[in-house]
Amino acid sequence: MIKVDITNCANFIALADVQSLLPFVQHYNQQLNEGTGAGSEFLGWLNLPSSITEENLIEMEWYAGDLRKKSDIVVVIGIGGSYLGARAVIDALTNNFDHLTPLKERDTPIIIYAGQNISEDYHYQLLKLLDKFDYSIIVVSKSGTTTEPAIAFRLLKNHIEAKYSVPEARGRIIAITDEKKGALKQLADNEKYKTFVIPDNVGGRFSVLTPVGLLPIAAAGINIRGLVAGALEMEKFLNQQKDLASNPANLYAATRNALYAKGKSIEILATYTPNFNYLIEWWKQLYGESEGKENKGIFPAGVTFTTDLHSMGQLIQEGPRNIFETVIHVETSNSTLLVPEAKNDLDGMNYLVAKKLSYVNEKAMEGTIMAHVEGGVPNIQITIPELNERHLGQLIYFFEKACALSGYILRVNPFNQPGVEAYKKNMFKLLGKK
Ligand code: PA5
Repeated sequence: MIKVDITNCANFIALADVQSLLPFVQHYNQQLNEGTGAGSEFLGWLNLPSSITEENLIEMEWYAGDLRKKSDIVVVIGIGGSYLGARAVIDALTNNFDHLTPLKERDTPIIIYAGQNISEDYHYQLLKLLDKFDYSIIVVSKSGTTTEPAIAFRLLKNHIEAKYSVPEARGRIIAITDEKKGALKQLADNEKYKTFVIPDNVGGRFSVLTPVGLLPIAAAGINIRGLVAGALEMEKFLNQQKDLASNPANLYAATRNALYAKGKSIEILATYTPNFNYLIEWWKQLYGESEGKENKGIFPAGVTFTTDLHSMGQLIQEGPRNIFETVIHVETSNSTLLVPEAKNDLDGMNYLVAKKLSYVNEKAMEGTIMAHVEGGVPNIQITIPELNERHLGQLIYFFEKACALSGYILRVNPFNQPGVEAYKKNMFKLLGKK
């Protein structure tokens, strides 16, 4: 099970400050369970792990298997909550160099993303690539009218129909969208695409455990049952544990708010494995979009250590003291690699001979935490036993639940995003949209 350790916050907040938030946390847990808090029309994520049925899993696995059979590449079209969850899990559980395995030697397709930007070069290069390989499309948009994925889907729909014929393209496109309404739903019905539903009561950034995340994850060959089972364990566990010390979501939500009240307005999520780069992106959206409103909110930033210790380390160590750091620590690595001996020890690394790289990485983490805490940066540590489907499922649900609680402690509605409309209004005006 995931552990949250706040020992390294003790120099910055009295643990009594955190403990004093317990009645609020308990109250907000009750509001979530009873659906009486702000944004309660978007609480479908809360019971997703326990409501996914065997039929749901079989259907997703079947369609994912079908895409795998006919595709070298699966293009996932979507932006924000409509792609970050899938990418977070796929990147976390995929070999870092997987994309370099020649397509014809692979058991699973490469997952590529589109419509998460409007870059002309990016999409031009993608279309050129798709000229050469067999591919399918999963297009994800709850509204169906989001500019970035809508433009990307137009481009790819034309391309795939020209490449394979309209009837064959139909079998290579799956749409994930609203059950009844929206432009993509209408288009999918007209074109007779297979569709999966984004439930009405699940917002984009909380949708990774719906087909939005699960179908692309399954298409990548990842065991979605393990992911869902882990999330379910966490759902049950958090419901059983009512206090702070034994409930990691309560503890994390309360601690980050106690730190925020002391002026720590930036949270840096740090990982020591590049596999988590997109988990950080997913987390940034989850917390940024949920909390950043009414002139409040902790700014979510992310770093990959030790890489970024050589770029951001200076600022974290000695810059403005409005930062706190949350480290995700993976206890056991999945492989074994020892530091080799070198005859003349020119680089001076022989003192590490036969040490596992994960041991060196862990000491780097411990040393960094000590330095940052001494430098004025409080530290929260989140530990998972190992990087696999089950623990990732636990971590995802933990972050979602803690985010909802944290937003309520901050007294904002964590489930809306009114501010996202501002840039769109200007962009539409500039583009001459009627
Ligand atoms: O979390 C959210 O609500 C957003 O990030 C949306 O997922 C994103 O804007 C995409 O919206 P849509 O799925 O309607 O295309």
